[in-house]
Amino acid sequence: MLTMPAWGVSSGAVAVGLSLFPGWVAKLSPCYDLGMSSDQSDTFPGLKEIFLEEKQIQQKVADLGVRITQDYRGKTPLLIGVLRGAAIFHADLIRHIELKLRVDFISVASYGDATKTSGEVQLIKDLDTSIRGVDAILVEDIVDTGLTLDYLVRNLESRRPASLRSCALLSKPSRRCIDIPIDYVGFEVPDKFFVGYGLDHQQKYRNLPFIASLGNDRTDF
Ligand code: IMP
Repeated sequence: MLTMPAWGVSSGAVAVGLSLFPGWVAKLSPCYDLGMSSDQSDTFPGLKEIFLEEKQIQQKVADLGVRITQDYRGKTPLLIGVLRGAAIFHADLIRHIELKLRVDFISVASYGDATKTSGEVQLIKDLDTSIRGVDAILVEDIVDTGLTLDYLVRNLESRRPASLRSCALLSKPSRRCIDIPIDYVGFEVPDKFFVGYGLDHQQKYRNLPFIASLGNDRTDF
């Protein structure tokens, strides 16, 4: 039996989503069952439920692309992907923005392999280009405590861009430690740990086409 999220996804929608990915169903269905075979639990330990299926994600990414297209008409924005989690979101988002645009990437570390933030943000890879006088948009996978976004915004603002906005596919408002506004938010999500569509746990699960939660609370994994 499939475990359903408490919000958003109907069983019909999940069934349609799963039918589009027979390969994943074959590999993952024992996980959704909550009674994983030992082989499956080795491959996907802790995967509990689909939270957002691929169709929902793609629709939201398309909507965000339309909004950004409208807001930046006549401009050439720089879409800055925050590695590694936002790589897939960034790649999909830019293809829904019908403007001349440029891309760059920045990489920060705040989590390591843990599921709780260390509270420290470290720059791992800087931008390759100057953003002075540029209309920049930071593209994040998920904003949790807000420490990473706050660090990035302060760091990038100091470089004098013409404008700087932020776009996050997921936001966990209940976990926020810093009151930092996000200009474009895909989905507001509860305090769970999510994987898939770029999001990882210990560098795994990034290639799932949907977003799943790892456990019912932070003690589950
Ligand atoms: P923040 O600094 O606490 O807002 O965390 C931001 C970063 O933590 C994100 O860019 C992710 O890399 C990671 N993160 C936070 N929550 C999750 C989650 O639920 N799944 C996977 N990564 C997460």
